[in-house]
Amino acid sequence: MTADGADWARRSLGAVWHPCTQMKLHEHAPPLAIARAAGPWLYDFAGNRYLDAVSSWWVNLFGHANPRIDAALAAQMRELSHIMLAGFTHRPAVVLAERLAALAPPGLGHAFFASDGASATEIALKMSFHCWSNRGQRGKARYARLAGGYHGETIGALGVTDVALFREAYAPLLRDQPVLASPAARDGADPQAALDAALAALQALLDERDGEIAALIVEPLVQGAGGMAMYAPRYLARARELTAQHDVHLIADEIMTGFGRTGTMFACEQAAISPDFLCLSKGITGGYLPLSCVLTTDSVFEAFYADDAAQGFLHSHSYTGNALACAAALAVIDIFDEDRVIAANRERASRWRALAGPLVDHPRVRGLRQCGMIAAFEVDDAGPAFARRFASAAQERGIVLRPIGDTVYFMPPYIVTDDEFAFLVERTLLTLDAV
Ligand SMILES: Cc1ncc(COP(=O)(O)O)c(C=O)c1O
Repeated sequence: MTADGADWARRSLGAVWHPCTQMKLHEHAPPLAIARAAGPWLYDFAGNRYLDAVSSWWVNLFGHANPRIDAALAAQMRELSHIMLAGFTHRPAVVLAERLAALAPPGLGHAFFASDGASATEIALKMSFHCWSNRGQRGKARYARLAGGYHGETIGALGVTDVALFREAYAPLLRDQPVLASPAARDGADPQAALDAALAALQALLDERDGEIAALIVEPLVQGAGGMAMYAPRYLARARELTAQHDVHLIADEIMTGFGRTGTMFACEQAAISPDFLCLSKGITGGYLPLSCVLTTDSVFEAFYADDAAQGFLHSHSYTGNALACAAALAVIDIFDEDRVIAANRERASRWRALAGPLVDHPRVRGLRQCGMIAAFEVDDAGPAFARRFASAAQERGIVLRPIGDTVYFMPPYIVTDDEFAFLVERTLLTLDAV
């Protein structure tokens, strides 16, 4: 690290409490200070570059310093940066709500904005409960969640998450929510059998306890933070039927899977379903600004529409519908349209599959799989602290990867070239040999 980079790292450790980090570990491995970023590359103060193969925590779709998003933000900044969305409205929020409704599965015409993914989860959970309660069904105060599911770190979102590392310290604060078998087969299990077992578990829970369950919350097709566990659309299709039959909402958390990650604009499309709540964030602004959104139906909206103020959804965040964030999101949707990104990604995904081929032959690689623009595999003989050791060895080789346990995954911005993807694979293989 240069003097500049080392100085920023040192000052950071003195003043910044970093997310998802045991700070003491930085005694041996300080954070990497980034001076600038362009396209899929991050540059440190010495001018070394690193391929951002995790899209800066799954948010960056079209590269850093994207000229089209930059221009949209600069223009918006001259017009209006932010006003509160209670009692006021503005063009970017209105147009974004309309365009999201047009893009999303049918029937999701009401957009409630917030800032981060976890806030979207909280909103969907609260809206679901409050909707039933407004309709006189006050007993529906639990949420069905999936084993290995992840929905964010706030108390409510953590309550429907099933990742022990994140939950355990806070267990006494969390309400007990029923956990259902995941439809994603793990450790070489049979995918069809896992999916059937998950559906049977869902059916059994709904048969017994639908009066208590407000909603089932799922990450459609890919359970991300739970280890990039993938499953077939059939689960979603049947889960939609079962939840509808039992008067239970379906919350589709597409915070990670949305905006083309799984190959379609939204993963739900692959099962031809419309959830009652669609949670969006991450890629929505192309990785520029925090923004999230919950889309819901007329039926939910109408349950809150009344003369009594308390029957309304009185939830708020100061930055709800921030105009700059909405402008970035509109620029992202324009890029999807103008560049026909979903069609281009179909071909890109099949090229990535071919380029990832050499990984299959590595003796430690197991379970290589792909869903759209996500590829993942497990590493045999990972050993203690594998994720940390692997990330740091990868960084030394010019790639940013953050394994989850022994699962290594690629989730780069869509704009990486074939040469850059081949570089990622080559450097991953070198890293595998080194850790
Ligand atoms: C599926 C899913 N839901 C919710 C979240 C939480 O989003 P945020 O980190 O923006 O709060 C994440 C973040 O990784 C996620 O992958």
